[in-house]
Amino acid sequence: MQARSDLSRRQGRKIAFVPTMGFLHEGHLSLMKAGHKRADEVLVSIFVNPTQFAPGEDLEAYPRDFDRDCRLCEKEGVSVIFSPDVKELYPDGFQTYVTLEKLPHHLCGISRPTHFRGVATVVSKLFNIVKPHVAIFGEKDFQQLQVIRRMVKDMNFDIEIVGAPIVREADGLAMSSRNTYLKPEHRISALSLCNSLKKAKEMADAGISDAKTIIDATIKQISGYPETAIDYVAVCDPETLEDMKIIDRPAVMALAVKVGKTRLIDNMMLKT
Ligand code: PAF
Repeated sequence: MQARSDLSRRQGRKIAFVPTMGFLHEGHLSLMKAGHKRADEVLVSIFVNPTQFAPGEDLEAYPRDFDRDCRLCEKEGVSVIFSPDVKELYPDGFQTYVTLEKLPHHLCGISRPTHFRGVATVVSKLFNIVKPHVAIFGEKDFQQLQVIRRMVKDMNFDIEIVGAPIVREADGLAMSSRNTYLKPEHRISALSLCNSLKKAKEMADAGISDAKTIIDATIKQISGYPETAIDYVAVCDPETLEDMKIIDRPAVMALAVKVGKTRLIDNMMLKT
């Protein structure tokens, strides 16, 4: 992979990179499209990264369909799919991890304390292997995007990080490979995430600046649906992810909710 990227670079070709864990959907394809706009070729990685899953999470169950992924990548004009084995990225004796001091201690990092260490580690490895000029990440994983942006800045990676807007199903559900876990009877409950975010945005637009008032309304709305268990609903600073009390500057609402056994996340800017 490194030799292939070196060749592209010697030929003066700009490389865009879309890291994924496979089971691709329209959201991933939009990242590839964004890559084509910014570079001469788009490279995709497909790797279900074990270090970002804690014991008891869905590493084994994570949906996989490599052949379908390949067909979709081909259709999107992807020039290389990098899909290493676990042992290639984490050989015996592996012991170097990338950790951030503050950003992982908010939002998803509270219930998934080792997750962002796994993400930052694998993404920095992938950056060193794929050697892109630009890398595209979805804004659905808002905290992940901020973690990567911070890591790239702090570690002087010479890579431009681009965030691409959330892609939603026709009914508003944010696209995610994990949506495949949702049983049909969970769909209405799952929609409470995006519907409550829309409501929260309406409240902010109407001039309600007290974050707690909006959070409480959001919790009430989601809790009204069957089989929902809220992990968090937060209004925070989009860069530091620190909680905000008063919405008087850019603010994002982020939430994580278990619907049945499926953990879903979503977010929306309340003020830009
Ligand atoms: O967003 C994902 O799919 C993963 O967290 C990533 C960035 C590919 C790292 O494994």
